[in-house]
Amino acid sequence: MTTEEYFDYVKKVLNYKPNVIIDDGADLVATVHKEMPELIPNILGGSEETTSGVKRLKAMHAQGVLKFPMIDVNDALSKYLFDNRYGTGQSVWDGFIRTTNMIVAGKTVVIAGYGWCGRGAAMRAAGFGAHVVVTEVDPHKACEALMDGFRVMSMDEAAKIGDIFLTFTGNIHVIRKEHIEKMKNGVVLGNAGHFDVEISKPDLLALSDHVEQLRDNIDTYVMKDGRRINLLGEGRLTNLACADGHPIEIMDLSFSLQLESALYVYTHKLEKGLYPVPVETDRAVMESKLAALGINIDTMTAEQVEYMRSWQE
Ligand SMILES: NC(=O)c1ccc[n+]([C@@H]2O[C@H](COP(=O)([O-])OP(=O)(O)OC[C@H]3O[C@@H](n4cnc5c(N)ncnc54)[C@H](O)[C@@H]3O)[C@@H](O)[C@H]2O)c1
Repeated sequence: MTTEEYFDYVKKVLNYKPNVIIDDGADLVATVHKEMPELIPNILGGSEETTSGVKRLKAMHAQGVLKFPMIDVNDALSKYLFDNRYGTGQSVWDGFIRTTNMIVAGKTVVIAGYGWCGRGAAMRAAGFGAHVVVTEVDPHKACEALMDGFRVMSMDEAAKIGDIFLTFTGNIHVIRKEHIEKMKNGVVLGNAGHFDVEISKPDLLALSDHVEQLRDNIDTYVMKDGRRINLLGEGRLTNLACADGHPIEIMDLSFSLQLESALYVYTHKLEKGLYPVPVETDRAVMESKLAALGINIDTMTAEQVEYMRSWQE
Protein backbone atom coordinates (compact mmCIF):
# COMPACT_ATOMS: atom_id res chain seq x y z
CA MET A 1 0.00 0.00 0.00
CA THR A 2 1.42 3.43 -0.90
CA THR A 3 1.24 6.33 1.58
CA GLU A 4 -1.48 7.96 -0.55
CA GLU A 5 -3.53 4.72 -0.59
CA TYR A 6 -3.12 4.45 3.18
CA PHE A 7 -4.27 8.05 3.70
CA ASP A 8 -7.31 7.50 1.40
CA TYR A 9 -8.20 4.34 3.31
CA VAL A 10 -7.90 6.06 6.71
CA LYS A 11 -10.04 8.98 5.52
CA LYS A 12 -12.72 6.61 4.23
CA VAL A 13 -12.88 4.58 7.46
CA LEU A 14 -12.73 7.55 9.82
CA ASN A 15 -15.44 9.37 7.91
CA TYR A 16 -18.03 7.37 9.87
CA LYS A 17 -18.76 8.47 13.39
CA PRO A 18 -18.41 7.84 16.19
CA ASN A 19 -15.15 5.98 15.70
CA VAL A 20 -12.98 4.10 18.18
CA ILE A 21 -9.39 3.52 17.08
CA ILE A 22 -7.43 0.34 17.79
CA ASP A 23 -3.80 1.24 17.11
CA ASP A 24 -0.36 -0.40 17.12
CA GLY A 25 2.65 1.88 17.36
CA ALA A 26 0.41 4.98 17.46
CA ASP A 27 0.80 5.14 13.68
CA LEU A 28 -2.88 5.83 13.09
CA VAL A 29 -3.11 8.37 15.92
CA ALA A 30 -0.04 10.22 14.64
CA THR A 31 -1.32 10.14 11.04
CA VAL A 32 -4.69 11.57 12.04
CA HIS A 33 -3.16 14.33 14.19
CA LYS A 34 -0.59 15.32 11.55
CA GLU A 35 -2.28 14.71 8.22
CA MET A 36 -6.06 14.86 8.72
CA PRO A 37 -6.95 16.78 11.92
CA GLU A 38 -10.40 17.56 10.44
CA LEU A 39 -11.33 13.93 11.26
CA ILE A 40 -10.51 14.21 14.98
CA PRO A 41 -14.09 15.20 15.98
CA ASN A 42 -15.27 11.83 14.56
CA ILE A 43 -13.04 9.92 17.02
CA LEU A 44 -14.26 9.03 20.52
CA GLY A 45 -10.83 7.67 21.45
CA GLY A 46 -8.97 4.40 21.21
CA SER A 47 -6.49 1.90 22.55
CA GLU A 48 -2.79 1.36 21.88
CA GLU A 49 -1.05 -2.01 21.66
CA THR A 50 2.69 -1.58 22.02
CA THR A 51 5.58 -0.05 23.99
CA SER A 52 6.74 2.30 21.23
CA GLY A 53 3.19 3.50 20.57
CA VAL A 54 2.65 4.26 24.26
CA LYS A 55 5.93 6.23 24.30
CA ARG A 56 4.67 8.33 21.37
CA LEU A 57 1.27 8.87 23.07
CA LYS A 58 2.98 9.91 26.32
CA ALA A 59 5.03 12.45 24.34
CA MET A 60 1.89 13.77 22.61
CA HIS A 61 0.03 13.99 25.93
CA ALA A 62 2.96 15.77 27.63
CA GLN A 63 3.04 18.33 24.81
CA GLY A 64 -0.74 18.79 25.13
CA VAL A 65 -1.37 17.77 21.51
CA LEU A 66 -3.23 14.46 22.04
CA LYS A 67 -6.79 15.36 21.13
CA PHE A 68 -8.75 12.32 22.36
CA PRO A 69 -8.56 9.64 25.09
CA MET A 70 -6.34 6.61 24.48
CA ILE A 71 -6.00 3.49 26.63
CA ASP A 72 -2.48 2.12 27.19
CA VAL A 73 -2.97 -1.61 26.56
CA ASN A 74 0.77 -2.33 26.54
CA ASP A 75 1.19 -1.64 30.25
CA ALA A 76 -1.56 -4.05 31.31
CA LEU A 77 -0.07 -7.11 33.03
CA SER A 78 -1.97 -9.41 30.65
CA LYS A 79 -0.09 -7.73 27.78
CA TYR A 80 3.58 -7.13 28.46
CA LEU A 81 4.21 -10.13 30.69
CA PHE A 82 3.00 -12.42 27.90
CA ASP A 83 2.93 -10.83 24.42
CA ASN A 84 6.22 -8.95 24.79
CA ARG A 85 8.07 -11.59 26.80
CA TYR A 86 6.83 -14.99 25.61
CA GLY A 87 5.37 -13.87 22.25
CA THR A 88 8.35 -11.90 20.97
CA GLY A 89 10.71 -14.18 22.87
CA GLN A 90 9.56 -17.15 20.79
CA SER A 91 8.51 -15.64 17.46
CA VAL A 92 11.75 -13.76 16.90
CA TRP A 93 13.60 -17.08 17.08
CA ASP A 94 11.01 -18.66 14.81
CA GLY A 95 11.78 -15.93 12.24
CA PHE A 96 15.52 -16.30 12.74
CA ILE A 97 15.58 -20.06 12.38
CA ARG A 98 13.15 -20.28 9.45
CA THR A 99 15.12 -17.68 7.56
CA THR A 100 18.71 -18.67 8.30
CA ASN A 101 18.38 -22.41 9.12
CA MET A 102 21.38 -21.83 11.42
CA ILE A 103 22.13 -23.62 14.66
CA VAL A 104 21.90 -21.28 17.64
CA ALA A 105 23.64 -23.58 20.16
CA GLY A 106 27.19 -22.48 20.83
CA LYS A 107 26.76 -19.10 19.15
CA THR A 108 27.24 -15.78 20.93
CA VAL A 109 23.89 -14.00 20.78
CA VAL A 110 23.87 -10.27 21.55
CA ILE A 111 20.52 -8.98 22.80
CA ALA A 112 20.22 -5.17 22.72
CA GLY A 113 17.63 -4.03 25.28
CA TYR A 114 16.65 -6.12 28.32
CA GLY A 115 13.03 -4.96 28.51
CA TRP A 116 10.14 -7.39 28.27
CA CYS A 117 10.85 -8.40 24.67
CA GLY A 118 14.60 -8.61 25.05
CA ARG A 119 14.47 -10.74 28.19
CA GLY A 120 12.07 -13.17 26.49
CA ALA A 121 14.44 -13.57 23.57
CA ALA A 122 17.46 -13.88 25.90
CA MET A 123 15.71 -16.60 27.91
CA ARG A 124 14.96 -18.60 24.74
CA ALA A 125 18.50 -18.08 23.38
CA ALA A 126 19.87 -19.55 26.60
CA GLY A 127 17.50 -22.49 26.17
CA PHE A 128 18.96 -23.11 22.71
CA GLY A 129 22.44 -23.27 24.24
CA ALA A 130 23.71 -19.87 23.09
CA HIS A 131 26.16 -17.69 24.99
CA VAL A 132 23.98 -14.68 25.70
CA VAL A 133 25.34 -11.15 25.93
CA VAL A 134 23.06 -8.25 26.86
CA THR A 135 23.57 -4.54 26.12
CA GLU A 136 21.54 -1.90 27.97
CA VAL A 137 21.41 1.80 28.82
CA ASP A 138 19.39 1.31 32.03
CA PRO A 139 21.55 0.26 35.02
CA HIS A 140 18.71 -1.68 36.71
CA LYS A 141 17.91 -3.70 33.59
CA ALA A 142 21.62 -4.29 33.05
CA CYS A 143 22.00 -5.66 36.58
CA GLU A 144 18.90 -7.84 36.19
CA ALA A 145 20.41 -9.34 33.04
CA LEU A 146 23.63 -9.99 34.94
CA MET A 147 21.79 -11.73 37.79
CA ASP A 148 19.72 -13.72 35.31
CA GLY A 149 23.07 -15.20 34.33
CA PHE A 150 23.98 -13.26 31.18
CA ARG A 151 27.11 -11.29 30.31
CA VAL A 152 26.52 -7.54 30.16
CA MET A 153 28.74 -5.16 28.21
CA SER A 154 28.61 -2.17 25.88
CA MET A 155 27.67 -2.67 22.22
CA ASP A 156 31.18 -1.56 21.38
CA GLU A 157 32.58 -4.61 23.22
CA ALA A 158 29.77 -6.96 22.15
CA ALA A 159 30.26 -6.05 18.48
CA LYS A 160 33.63 -7.80 18.49
CA ILE A 161 32.41 -11.15 19.85
CA GLY A 162 28.79 -11.57 18.69
CA ASP A 163 27.64 -14.03 16.01
CA ILE A 164 23.96 -13.02 16.12
CA PHE A 165 22.69 -9.56 17.08
CA LEU A 166 19.03 -8.88 17.88
CA THR A 167 17.68 -5.46 18.89
CA PHE A 168 14.64 -4.89 21.14
CA THR A 169 15.03 -1.29 22.26
CA GLY A 170 12.45 0.84 20.42
CA ASN A 171 15.38 3.20 19.89
CA ILE A 172 17.30 4.44 16.87
CA HIS A 173 20.74 3.35 15.54
CA VAL A 174 21.53 1.01 18.42
CA ILE A 175 23.81 -0.80 15.97
CA ARG A 176 25.71 1.72 13.87
CA LYS A 177 28.95 2.45 12.01
CA GLU A 178 31.42 2.06 14.90
CA HIS A 179 29.85 -1.30 15.83
CA ILE A 180 29.55 -2.66 12.29
CA GLU A 181 33.23 -1.85 11.71
CA LYS A 182 34.20 -4.17 14.59
CA MET A 183 31.93 -7.14 13.70
CA LYS A 184 33.18 -10.55 12.59
CA ASN A 185 32.69 -11.88 9.09
CA GLY A 186 29.32 -13.64 8.63
CA VAL A 187 27.38 -12.18 11.55
CA VAL A 188 23.58 -11.98 11.37
CA LEU A 189 21.67 -8.85 12.43
CA GLY A 190 17.96 -8.71 13.18
CA ASN A 191 15.59 -6.25 14.79
CA ALA A 192 12.41 -6.90 16.78
CA GLY A 193 11.80 -3.41 18.17
CA HIS A 194 9.34 -1.09 16.51
CA PHE A 195 10.80 0.29 13.26
CA ASP A 196 13.59 -0.59 10.86
CA VAL A 197 15.84 2.06 12.42
CA GLU A 198 17.43 0.16 15.34
CA ILE A 199 20.13 -1.14 12.99
CA SER A 200 21.48 1.72 10.89
CA LYS A 201 20.87 0.70 7.28
CA PRO A 202 22.45 3.94 5.99
CA ASP A 203 25.68 3.03 7.86
CA LEU A 204 25.58 -0.57 6.57
CA LEU A 205 25.21 0.75 3.04
CA ALA A 206 27.95 3.38 3.43
CA LEU A 207 30.42 0.72 4.63
CA SER A 208 29.49 -1.73 1.85
CA ASP A 209 30.94 -2.40 -1.54
CA HIS A 210 27.66 -3.95 -2.66
CA VAL A 211 24.62 -5.85 -1.34
CA GLU A 212 23.67 -9.40 -2.32
CA GLN A 213 20.46 -11.27 -1.53
CA LEU A 214 21.73 -14.44 0.15
CA ARG A 215 18.28 -16.04 0.43
CA ASP A 216 14.73 -14.81 1.03
CA ASN A 217 14.76 -12.14 3.73
CA ILE A 218 18.55 -12.08 4.08
CA ASP A 219 20.50 -9.18 2.57
CA THR A 220 24.26 -9.64 2.70
CA TYR A 221 26.14 -6.36 2.90
CA VAL A 222 29.59 -7.12 1.47
CA MET A 223 31.90 -4.66 3.21
CA LYS A 224 34.68 -2.85 1.42
CA ASP A 225 37.13 -4.96 3.49
CA GLY A 226 35.44 -8.18 2.30
CA ARG A 227 33.47 -9.05 5.49
CA ARG A 228 29.90 -10.18 4.94
CA ILE A 229 27.24 -8.81 7.31
CA ASN A 230 23.78 -10.36 6.98
CA LEU A 231 20.62 -8.37 7.71
CA LEU A 232 17.28 -10.12 8.31
CA GLY A 233 14.03 -8.80 6.83
CA GLU A 234 15.51 -5.44 5.77
CA GLY A 235 15.85 -4.59 9.48
CA ARG A 236 12.08 -4.74 9.96
CA LEU A 237 10.61 -6.84 12.77
CA THR A 238 12.19 -10.28 12.36
CA ASN A 239 9.17 -12.06 13.81
CA LEU A 240 6.79 -10.37 11.34
CA ALA A 241 8.99 -9.95 8.25
CA CYS A 242 10.51 -13.45 8.50
CA ALA A 243 7.74 -15.44 10.27
CA ASP A 244 4.07 -15.25 11.24
CA GLY A 245 4.36 -13.06 14.36
CA HIS A 246 3.16 -14.28 17.74
CA PRO A 247 1.02 -17.41 18.02
CA ILE A 248 -2.68 -16.76 18.61
CA GLU A 249 -2.33 -18.31 22.08
CA ILE A 250 -0.52 -15.08 23.00
CA MET A 251 -2.37 -12.64 20.76
CA ASP A 252 -5.73 -13.71 22.27
CA LEU A 253 -4.69 -11.84 25.42
CA SER A 254 -3.63 -8.67 23.60
CA PHE A 255 -6.67 -8.68 21.33
CA SER A 256 -9.03 -9.20 24.31
CA LEU A 257 -7.46 -6.20 26.03
CA GLN A 258 -7.76 -4.14 22.85
CA LEU A 259 -11.42 -5.04 22.41
CA GLU A 260 -12.31 -4.49 26.08
CA SER A 261 -10.47 -1.14 26.02
CA ALA A 262 -12.24 -0.03 22.84
CA LEU A 263 -15.59 -0.94 24.43
CA TYR A 264 -14.60 0.97 27.55
CA VAL A 265 -13.86 4.08 25.48
CA TYR A 266 -17.18 3.62 23.66
CA THR A 267 -19.22 3.28 26.86
CA HIS A 268 -17.48 5.93 29.02
CA LYS A 269 -17.19 9.62 28.36
CA LEU A 270 -13.44 10.07 28.83
CA GLU A 271 -11.53 13.33 28.63
CA LYS A 272 -8.58 13.50 26.22
CA GLY A 273 -5.45 11.88 27.67
CA LEU A 274 -3.77 8.54 28.25
CA TYR A 275 -5.45 5.99 30.56
CA PRO A 276 -4.39 2.60 31.95
CA VAL A 277 -6.50 -0.49 31.27
CA PRO A 278 -8.89 -0.77 34.26
CA VAL A 279 -7.45 -3.33 36.72
CA GLU A 280 -10.72 -5.30 36.72
CA THR A 281 -10.49 -5.65 32.92
CA ASP A 282 -6.84 -6.73 33.11
CA ARG A 283 -7.74 -9.34 35.74
CA ALA A 284 -10.86 -10.52 33.87
CA VAL A 285 -8.82 -11.12 30.69
CA MET A 286 -6.35 -13.27 32.61
CA GLU A 287 -9.14 -15.13 34.42
CA SER A 288 -10.83 -15.97 31.12
CA LYS A 289 -7.47 -17.16 29.71
CA LEU A 290 -7.03 -19.56 32.65
CA ALA A 291 -10.67 -20.68 32.36
CA ALA A 292 -10.16 -21.41 28.65
CA LEU A 293 -7.12 -23.49 29.58
CA GLY A 294 -9.16 -25.36 32.21
CA ILE A 295 -6.88 -24.18 35.02
CA ASN A 296 -8.32 -23.47 38.47
CA ILE A 297 -6.64 -21.19 40.99
CA ASP A 298 -7.48 -20.66 44.65
CA THR A 299 -9.68 -17.94 46.12
CA MET A 300 -8.83 -16.41 49.47
CA THR A 301 -11.04 -17.46 52.36
CA ALA A 302 -12.86 -14.75 54.34
CA GLU A 303 -10.32 -15.33 57.13
CA GLN A 304 -7.43 -14.79 54.71
CA VAL A 305 -8.98 -11.62 53.27
CA GLU A 306 -9.36 -10.27 56.79
CA TYR A 307 -5.79 -11.28 57.72
CA MET A 308 -4.32 -9.55 54.66
CA ARG A 309 -6.24 -6.35 55.47
CA SER A 310 -5.28 -6.30 59.14
CA TRP A 311 -2.20 -4.67 60.70
CA GLN A 312 -2.83 -5.86 64.27
CA GLU A 313 -1.94 -9.55 63.94
N1 LIG B 1 8.36 -7.65 17.58
C1 LIG B 1 7.18 -7.62 18.21
O1 LIG B 1 6.25 -8.35 17.89
C2 LIG B 1 7.03 -6.69 19.37
C3 LIG B 1 6.10 -6.98 20.38
C4 LIG B 1 6.00 -6.10 21.47
C5 LIG B 1 6.81 -4.94 21.50
N2 LIG B 1 7.66 -4.69 20.45
C6 LIG B 1 8.53 -3.50 20.41
O2 LIG B 1 9.80 -3.90 20.93
C7 LIG B 1 10.44 -2.79 21.55
C8 LIG B 1 10.81 -3.16 22.98
O3 LIG B 1 9.61 -3.43 23.72
P1 LIG B 1 9.68 -3.77 25.29
O4 LIG B 1 8.29 -3.99 25.72
O5 LIG B 1 10.72 -4.79 25.54
O6 LIG B 1 10.18 -2.33 25.83
P2 LIG B 1 10.91 -2.00 27.20
O7 LIG B 1 10.76 -0.53 27.36
O8 LIG B 1 10.46 -2.93 28.27
O9 LIG B 1 12.44 -2.37 26.87
C9 LIG B 1 13.28 -1.64 26.01
C10 LIG B 1 14.66 -1.69 26.64
O10 LIG B 1 15.61 -1.16 25.70
C11 LIG B 1 16.56 -0.44 26.45
N3 LIG B 1 17.28 0.47 25.56
C12 LIG B 1 16.87 1.67 25.06
N4 LIG B 1 17.84 2.19 24.28
C13 LIG B 1 18.86 1.30 24.28
C14 LIG B 1 20.15 1.27 23.67
N5 LIG B 1 20.58 2.28 22.90
N6 LIG B 1 20.94 0.19 23.89
C15 LIG B 1 20.52 -0.83 24.67
N7 LIG B 1 19.32 -0.85 25.29
C16 LIG B 1 18.51 0.19 25.09
C17 LIG B 1 15.74 0.25 27.54
O11 LIG B 1 16.55 0.66 28.63
C18 LIG B 1 14.76 -0.83 27.91
O12 LIG B 1 15.21 -1.64 28.98
C19 LIG B 1 9.44 -1.63 21.45
O13 LIG B 1 9.75 -0.87 20.30
C20 LIG B 1 8.10 -2.32 21.26
O14 LIG B 1 7.14 -1.51 20.62
C21 LIG B 1 7.81 -5.55 19.43
